[in-house]
Amino acid sequence: PRVVRTTTLQRWKDEGRRWAMLTAYDALTASVLDEAGVPVLLVGDSAGTTVLGQPSTIAVTVEEMLVLTRAVVRGTQRALVVADLPFGSYQQGPAQALATGVRMLKEGGAAAVKLEGGTAVAPAVRALVDAGVPVMGHVGFTPQSEHALGGYRVQGRGESADRLVADALAVQDAGAFAVVVEMVPSAVAARLARELRVPVVGIGAGPGTDAQVLVVTDMAGLGGGRSPRFVRRYADLRGELARAATAYVADVEEGTFPAAEHEFED
Ligand code: KIV
Ligand code: NA
Repeated sequence: PRVVRTTTLQRWKDEGRRWAMLTAYDALTASVLDEAGVPVLLVGDSAGTTVLGQPSTIAVTVEEMLVLTRAVVRGTQRALVVADLPFGSYQQGPAQALATGVRMLKEGGAAAVKLEGGTAVAPAVRALVDAGVPVMGHVGFTPQSEHALGGYRVQGRGESADRLVADALAVQDAGAFAVVVEMVPSAVAARLARELRVPVVGIGAGPGTDAQVLVVTDMAGLGGGRSPRFVRRYADLRGELARAATAYVADVEEGTFPAAEHEFED
């Protein structure tokens, strides 16, 4: 199948065709997801918690994102690869955002970047887009602002819905090709998908958006602990890997691995 472009996603929105996005942080997983037909892979700064063992996304650096992005790009043939701009790498303004975004394309090989925020980041979005760096927005609950938002909380309830829509419109009007909306009431997300010309990608935002995104370790059941309410677990990779490791350890301890078929002759 043909390579996915930002223009492909706009066509899908115009045709009313829903699409799926997953995060990826390494070449191996990226190649599996790409071959499975996932059209958009996000090198999310959720890497901080999923693969780097950090308590949140806050500490993730540009250098770390570049390493992960290069790996995902190498494992991908068809999917559009979007790289998150980590916390602190764009908030100073358009010049800093542009410098970081250019690195993600030049050094990381990404096809687009994602950054969090609404009206406040619109000038940064404009600078990136004008320079040729496609931008995906991210509104609603924005994990990089966890401390400012008072923790993981649903956004856009009640009267704050209008501000959420205004934020998403500001990002769209600054040139973003798509907007992620995280943890908002389904009705608000559906309104966003209607009012925006560009694709709206939901996570914890109900079924009324143009696309959906999940963190791959959540949906594949690889992460430990409880998943958020909005996750559907499609596999138990953690259990599978644990069973494989336990069986291997036992075989080695009992001397049943390696067997004759694994040996080399003189
Ligand atoms: O970092 C991430 O995984 C994300 C998605 C959940 C949208 O930003
Ligand atoms: Na992110």
